[in-house]
Amino acid sequence: MVSVLLLAAGTIDLNNLINYSNRDIPMYVLKDNTPPFNDLTDAGATLGRVLFYDKKLSANNTISCASCHQQEYAFSDPSIASVGLNGGFTGRHAMRLANSRFSDEMAFFWDERAASLEEQTTQPIRDHVEMGFSAINGAPGFDSLIRKMGAITYYPQMFELVFGTPEISEERMQQALAQFIRSITSFDSRFDSGFAAVNNLGQPFPNFTQQENMGKMLYLQTGAQGGAGCQGCHRAPEFDIAPNSGNNGVIGVIGDPATLDLTNVRAPSLRDLVNPAGIPNGPFMHDGSLATLMDVINHYDSIAFDPNVNNNLDPRLRGGTPGQGPPTGQNLQLTQDEKDALVAFLMTLTGSDLYSNEIWSDPFDANGELNYIPLNTTSVNEMVENQRFKAFPNPAIDQVNFSLPSGEYQLHVLGMNGQLVAQSAIRNGGSFMVSNLQPGMYIFHARSTTGEESFSKKIIVR
Ligand code: HEC
Ligand code: HEC
Repeated sequence: MVSVLLLAAGTIDLNNLINYSNRDIPMYVLKDNTPPFNDLTDAGATLGRVLFYDKKLSANNTISCASCHQQEYAFSDPSIASVGLNGGFTGRHAMRLANSRFSDEMAFFWDERAASLEEQTTQPIRDHVEMGFSAINGAPGFDSLIRKMGAITYYPQMFELVFGTPEISEERMQQALAQFIRSITSFDSRFDSGFAAVNNLGQPFPNFTQQENMGKMLYLQTGAQGGAGCQGCHRAPEFDIAPNSGNNGVIGVIGDPATLDLTNVRAPSLRDLVNPAGIPNGPFMHDGSLATLMDVINHYDSIAFDPNVNNNLDPRLRGGTPGQGPPTGQNLQLTQDEKDALVAFLMTLTGSDLYSNEIWSDPFDANGELNYIPLNTTSVNEMVENQRFKAFPNPAIDQVNFSLPSGEYQLHVLGMNGQLVAQSAIRNGGSFMVSNLQPGMYIFHARSTTGEESFSKKIIVR
């Protein structure tokens, strides 16, 4: 049962959590950077949403994550640089956050300086320009933020709901923020309908125009095949960046034409580059230097390579033919029709849910007050149950692992009509192979052999 009970726009009811953890993700999406210790839960993502929109997480109560990552711009910023708490500007363009979960690359930021999404999420709070708990030049440090949050009524209760005790810590904030960001997905694009229909990237999609299908082939094929080679680095169907890419030849620094920055080797997923009306969700690249998709295509059409200027240009973009001297850069020689087709294809990667779904929207009112309904006693009991029985990962591909109070249990796996599909004996810390099950939703019911304890949980099998 999925209980989405929205009382008023932005009300958070802790007794009726929004479903974040069992949302539809297409079967063809396999990449997932969720670490085993931070599975997506409804309670965790709800806390993450509150943290994401709470301006009290900045030192002067004026900036939240959402100041720079705005839902109406696919969680990006229309400005080249974003403004932080004291009017200072960020050094790079704010990145879109949709589908951050679905990548092989684990590191975040344009230069991949954060080793994981968890590690990334509190860096803006510690940043002197962005949210200001930096402990630099007399600014407060992170410990003072934790004390501040401890005095805000909703936080201790929400941390208890998610983690079992009310303590607030940076690590717990990272986990909740990462869960919320991983919940932000976009899979209702025309690309998705087309791919679902033929299940083969190389086949023409029936819902595409001839131009869009041509753009898709140019995107997928390498330069040697007559294409533009985009798929080598931005890999469909997730459109995530390939790990270990070099830079793409965009090496500017915002506001400083004399300096080069060769370190930017990551891009967010190329989904939702433009909004449903076709307008760019902010300028492109780390320095926001390309305003339109045609500017992007023109950049890739001809990229100069001089090892003395940019020794970190990705080898795939250096051009050249073996035996014909050192490479001097990529020269695709795309025709105008081909460029138009590539732009048309990139525009098919936009959905609409991302921009309008309330589950990712601001739960604070105009006065900065959170509208929320605290936990009642029944919910508190359920919460305790949930802490005692954990089954993860969810969705599961190979196996489901269990964390239970110690003892022997009989596990029953039931289909959604209640039919018994499999059973097995498990104990605390045990696991169950699901690779033989048909993809779908199952109820995992564990009952202690003494009959004293029983738990159940819905698990999606891929
Ligand atoms: C003042 C503007 C600003 C604020 C506030 C801000 N961000 Fe960002 N965000 C940025 C910029 C700019 C970048 C790219 C920075 C870079 O790569 O050096 C970024 C990058 C990111 C990324 C990396 C995405 C990727 O694909 O690598 C994530 C995730 C993120 N921000 C989450 C958050 C969270 C969570 C918060 C709140 C705790 C937050 N941001 C607050 C501007 C901001
Ligand atoms: C060798 C790897 C590589 C190839 C090939 C490549 N890209 Fe990129 N792309 C990147 C990197 C790295 C970035 C981030 C660059 C930056 O901001 O400095 C990027 C950024 C982008 C962005 C901006 C994303 C944003 O959020 O602002 C777009 C759009 C894009 N690429 C489209 C394409 C298209 C279209 C092609 C094919 C014509 C292509 N790329 C080929 C590596 C690649």
